[in-house]
Order: sequence, then structure tokens, then C-alpha cells
Amino acid sequence: MDLRVVVLTGAGVSADSGHPTFRGHGGLWEGRAVAEVATPEAWARDPELVWRFYQERRQLLASSSPNPAHFALADLEERLGELGVAFSLVTQNVDDLHARAGSAAIHIHGELSVLRCEVCGEKVRDLDHLDPAAFFPCPECGHRAMRPDVVWFGEMPNRVEDVFRQVGNASHFLSVGTSGTVYPAAGLLQLARDAGAKTFVSSLDEPENLSMDDAYFPGRAAEVLPELCELILRQLSR
Ligand code: OAD
Repeated sequence: MDLRVVVLTGAGVSADSGHPTFRGHGGLWEGRAVAEVATPEAWARDPELVWRFYQERRQLLASSSPNPAHFALADLEERLGELGVAFSLVTQNVDDLHARAGSAAIHIHGELSVLRCEVCGEKVRDLDHLDPAAFFPCPECGHRAMRPDVVWFGEMPNRVEDVFRQVGNASHFLSVGTSGTVYPAAGLLQLARDAGAKTFVSSLDEPENLSMDDAYFPGRAAEVLPELCELILRQLSR
């Protein structure tokens, strides 16, 4: 089997940069489950509320920085590149912290820094307009409110086929900082096992999709990942 490392990250990787996770401690926003706000129905019913929620998260991008977990993954990518080993980083996170640490991540749930017009499809990368009380009108067609280009509950994630193909060819798969509850991302771990990949899992709380076949490293991503990435590198260079 050719060597290919695929990493899947979730909200836990950005928790140490001050970004709240979706579930567990801090998983509520103004007393509401995040899953109630991040839907097309909520946007249609109460766009002001949904926009305020996302503007808060967009503001957080401006004031937060990548943590050692993001940097460890960027370093892993670079060193695997030197060894000629294929690497991909798939993230469920909508922040830009992987990019700021130097990784090119596949954002299956979209990106907070991109806004999209539901009328004409125009996309704009913007982190300058962060007022929670002012919508961002479409510069192309004038529609009054662009939405964040993120995947909401009930919407199709991005690049699913591509990601499935890469995980299906993985020799090593690392799932980190995700509760393993939201599909299709939560199914990638099983897909990797089925493909015969060596599977590594790390999270603060035990993910729902963990199995005895996985090497499990509990703890905070910022503390665990630097060493875990070294371990993966050692296994690959043998
Ligand atoms: P969750 O909020 O479901 O899970 C976060 C996981 O990170 C939990 O298992 C925590 O134990 C773990 N965690 C918390 N702090 C950590 C830390 N410092 N270090 C390591 N792990 C830590 O987040 P995701 O699994 O990413 O989808 O959520 C998946 C998807 O559900 C999200 O992408 C989003 C959400 O609904 C959409 O918006 C479509």
C-alpha cells in the first residue's frame, strides 16, 4: 500500500485558541443549542439572529491565533512532504486557523471568512465587516444580506466524494478534536479502518465513533498533537 496520511480535525483543535465547540462544555450560545441557529430554516425565520451569531464567530477569528495543534499538523505536512508521503488535512472547522498555521485544509463545512449570495451565487472573502447589526449586501446583485459560506444542518458538505476517495486510500488516519457524531465526517474513521489504515484518535472526551482498533490519545489537542505527530512520523520513517 502507498503511504498516505489523512487527518480529520474538529472543533476541539480550535478550542485551545478560544473557539467554542458545538457540543459539551461551552456548546450553547445565548442559551440555545448551536444546532438550532446553524440551519437554513433559522436563517429564513430570523436572519438577524443568525447573522449576529456568525458575526460573533467571525470577530473571534480576528482576535484568535493558531495553537500548537495547528502548528504540529502544518509541521507534519511539511516533513511528510520531504519524505514523499502524500498528506491531506480535512477539517470540519469553519475558522481559518489551519491556513494561518501554514496548512491547506479541505473545509468540508465551509469557511467563516467567505460570504455567499443566495440569489446570484457571488462569493466574497471578507473579515472587515464585522458589525453584528449590519448585513453585508451582495456587491454583485445588491441582495440585502449575504450569508456565511458555511454548511448548515441539512445541507450537503463540500468535496465529499474527493474526501471519501482520499480516506479510502489512506495508510494512516488521524481523527482529532471531534465528537464523531456528525455524518458524513464521523463515518470517515470507519472508512479508514475498512481500507486497512492505521487509525489514531485524539480528543478531550472519548468520541462516539471510537473503536478498540484505534490508537487513542486522550487530552487537549494543543498538548497531545506535537508528540502524536512525532509518533506518526517515526512509524512512517521505519
Ligand atoms: P463537537 O463540538 O461536536 O466536538 C468537539 C470535540 O472536541 C469533543 O469531543 C470534545 O471532547 C473535544 N474537545 C474539546 N476541547 C478540546 C481540546 N482542547 N482538545 C481536544 N479536544 C477537545 O465538534 P465537531 O465534532 O467538530 O457542523 O462537530 C462536528 C460538526 O458539528 C461541526 O463541524 C458542525 C457541528 O454541527 C456544521 O456546522 C455542519
